[in-house]
Amino acid sequence: MTYNDSNFLIETIVPEGEVIISRTDLKGIITYANETFADISGYKVEELIGKPHNLLRHPDMPRVAFEHLWTTIQSGKMWQGYVKNMRKDGGYYWVYAEVSGVYKDDVLVEYKSMRSPISKETITKMQRKYDEMKLKNKDMIRVIRYIPFDEYVELK
Ligand SMILES: Cc1cc2nc3c(=O)[nH]c(=O)nc-3n(C[C@H](O)[C@H](O)[C@H](O)COP(=O)(O)O)c2cc1C
Repeated sequence: MTYNDSNFLIETIVPEGEVIISRTDLKGIITYANETFADISGYKVEELIGKPHNLLRHPDMPRVAFEHLWTTIQSGKMWQGYVKNMRKDGGYYWVYAEVSGVYKDDVLVEYKSMRSPISKETITKMQRKYDEMKLKNKDMIRVIRYIPFDEYVELK
């Protein structure tokens, strides 16, 4: 994991009216990213192009969500869902995402994704839901704890 411990609790709010757009090849390698995507994720457009889309994967996201995403888009349908992504600096942002295939003459050539802001209430609800899913599936679990100062100094 690449987040640094001072940033991982810092949320970036996607401004109302902004849309994050990306396209990937059939393996999930980013082929297009708009400026909003770069701004919100903290990467430059050039850094995003050519990278796998799981560059942004946040450990709070349940594995099953992405399994479902891939089976849905591979079967020709659109996947809709809520995604928590990790920024380059380790912070995070939440979006509502729609992911689907791009077809040329009925042949699947790429995937595209459009993501927009969601409310604070939805974020709280989805964080709880994903935490529950991860517990149920014995997926990676987030633990935040308080420790005495001496222990903290030893950790450093
Ligand atoms: C068009 C498209 C957009 C995607 N957007 C994201 C995204 O914003 N965040 C994310 O974590 N995964 C996204 N994914 C899914 C990733 O490709 C990947 O499956 C996911 O991050 C889980 O990583 P893993 O498959 O290595 O476990 C997207 C996939 C596609 C095809």
